[in-house]
Order: sequence, then C-alpha cells, then structure tokens
Amino acid sequence: MTTAQSPVDLVDLVDLEVQPTPLALLLLGREADPKSERGVECPGDLPSPSDPDLVERARAAKEKLGDKVFVLGHHYQRDEVIQFADVTGDSFKLARDAAARPDAEYIVFCGVHFMAESADILTGDDQKVVLPDLAAGCSMADMATAEQVAECWDVLTEAGIAEQVVPVSYMNSSADIKAFTGKHGGTICTSSNAKRALEWAYAQGDPASTKVLFLPDQHLGRNTAVRDMGFSLDDCVVYNPHKPNGGLTVEQLRDAKMILWRGHCSVHGRFSLESVEDVRARIPGVNVLVHPECKHEVVAAADYVGSTEHIIKTLEAAPAGSKWAIGTELNLVRRLANRFAAEGKEIVFLDKTVCFCSTMNRIDLPHLVWTLESLAEGNLVNQIQVDRETEQFAKMALERMLALP
Ligand code: 13P
Ligand code: SF4
Repeated sequence: MTTAQSPVDLVDLVDLEVQPTPLALLLLGREADPKSERGVECPGDLPSPSDPDLVERARAAKEKLGDKVFVLGHHYQRDEVIQFADVTGDSFKLARDAAARPDAEYIVFCGVHFMAESADILTGDDQKVVLPDLAAGCSMADMATAEQVAECWDVLTEAGIAEQVVPVSYMNSSADIKAFTGKHGGTICTSSNAKRALEWAYAQGDPASTKVLFLPDQHLGRNTAVRDMGFSLDDCVVYNPHKPNGGLTVEQLRDAKMILWRGHCSVHGRFSLESVEDVRARIPGVNVLVHPECKHEVVAAADYVGSTEHIIKTLEAAPAGSKWAIGTELNLVRRLANRFAAEGKEIVFLDKTVCFCSTMNRIDLPHLVWTLESLAEGNLVNQIQVDRETEQFAKMALERMLALP
C-alpha cells in the first residue's frame, strides 16, 4: 500500500535519513568494501559525525587553504557537503569548471570516482585532484570494464563492422573506457549533450552506415536515440558483456544503428511506469520531470526529460503554483523541494520509497573535514591520478566532447 507524499512528508522522511550522517554509510566509508568501485579504508582518523564543531572545522580549514583549494560539488551531494562547494553542477559543468581553475593546487571533488578522474585528466600536471572518500564509486561505471570493452571490439571486428562503429561513452565511465573511446575515434557525452554527441558521431562517416557503440548506460543511449534522433527501438540492440558475442548475432549487429552496452544506473532504474501513473493519480495536474538515465518507458511517460542542471533550470522557470514530480536522486529533489516551497512550487519525489545514490552519499561532512584539514596541514590525501597513457587517450575523447557545438 502506498500513501500520498506531500513535500512536507518528503522533507521529514529525508531529514530522518540524512541528519545526522547515517551510521551505516559512515561505517561503509571507513572500512574496506570489496563490492564498491574503489573499496578502501580511510587512511586517516575521521572526526566523529556527532562532533558539533564539524561545520566550523570545515570552514576554518577551507579558509586556511584559501585560493589553493577549489571545491566542486555534484548536485547529488548531501546539503552538509554542498554548503562548502565553490561551484555546484552536473557532470558536464563540473568537468568544465575543473578545467577552468588552473591556479588551484587542490581540486576537492565532492562527487564520485569517475568525475574525479575526469577532473584529473582535464587539469594541469601540478594540480592534485582529491576525492574525500575513495569508496565513492559508481555502480554504472563498474558495469563496463576495459577487458569487456576490448572483447566487444573484437566481436565487432569479427562481424566486419568495427570500421563503421563510433564509440560514444557516457561521462559515467572509468578513465580506461574513456581512453578506449579516444583511441577509437569516439567522444564522451553527458546527459546534457548526448544528442549533440550522437549527431557528431553519425557525421564521422556515411550517416547511412555509421553505427554508435554507446557505453555504459543503455537507457541514456536508447532515450537519446529514440527521443532525439528519431531512431526506432528496433534500431537499437543491447550488447550483454556476460554472454558470448554480447548475446547478438552478426545480422543483429550489422542491422543496428545503436549498439547499447548493457549497463544502467541502479538509482534511476528504480523509477517505473507505475511510479508515473501513481503520482499522476495522486496529484492532478502534476508535471513529471525525469533524468534520461531512467528506463525508456518512464521517459516516454514523463512530460519533461533532462540532466540535473536542466531539471534545476526547468524548476527555476516554472510558475508559482505548479506541481512537479521529479525522477532523480533524492538529495537533489529534497533540496529543490525546500528551495522552491517558498515560491509556492510543489515538488515531490517520483518514487514511493527513498532513493539516494549510496556512493554519492559516502562523501559526508566528517570525510570533507578530514580532507580539508589534512590538506591544510600539508598532507595530500586520497589523490586521484590517472596514468599518462590512459590520460592521453581519455583526454582526446573528453576534448572532443568539450568542443561539441
Ligand atoms: P548529470 O549530473 O550529468 O545529470 O548525471 C547524473 C548522474 O548520475 C551523475 O552520476
Ligand atoms: Fe552512478 Fe547512478 Fe549514482 Fe550517478 S546516480 S553516481 S550513475 S549510481
């Protein structure tokens, strides 16, 4: 049974979840977690989450570091962390912002591992990118490994189509996958520029025969191909790295316009057609706005679709009195519900149950304080460094993205 969720319910529910820092997440963040992208123990002594001086300690350490530090915060970060971000944004904006601060010695990335890797690739050799909790990975990025993607390329080569294939990789992928993409003439994309990336990719050869290998999020790939490029669902096939030949015949590969990697986001994967139908029944006149990492049926049933930055801009421009159900991570939805309540905009979370990104949530105030205080004392901690060869090819792919019209 479900109950209607007003913005007040939502705020109460969420406050219970995040304040103070949930013990389970803190323990996960401190200890080795073999299932995470980078399961490592925090090497330092984390302050207690109940320390009443955490906010003051973070402020003092940041002040001591001054211009030497630049703190980036992804929209899915907790409020307790986002308050210390010099800039906030979606993954595209943060990649650009990191590249635009060549003077900062330390880039503290409050986000997840692949974002910090991208920042390292795009910043100067003398700049150090730091991830406050090394266990902040991304389950979607983990769904495509370098070995699996190399094997896929062999399958495409054997099918005689590799020369027609342009790889387009979502930002949410490891530096290795970005390097593969750069090496094979492809580009990176984010949820804000996926359409432009696909247009670019199909213009790299004869548009009639060119195919895209889209990694690793099948939903962003399919949604962009069908909604924005006018392809049919039948033009898309799904390559399953756990099956021989991706589970596809040579004919299926030859006929496809989009070869979608079988990856997904477990957070956005929770939204269903039923969530959309439920919220429409509960809140007459509600506008449903979802992230393109949601399943195709959810995106098809929604009124609006876009990246986190697009979601924020849409709500900023919405008239007073309008009602919105948002299908993306809960830290962001809760922040937006609070921010726009004063303007009379009613904003609810699309799903009935709480849906944080657990790896984004690993970055909490104790980890941020520990990071900033360590840097202020001259101890470089949790540096994210991509090796030179990987960096060289990954940068080619990232720069192609930054140059998209
Ligand atoms: P954007 O910030 O690009 O909208 O992506 C959302 C996301 O899942 C980041 O991990
Ligand atoms: Fe990865 Fe999904 Fe979390 Fe984004 S929201 S970091 S795609 S698991």
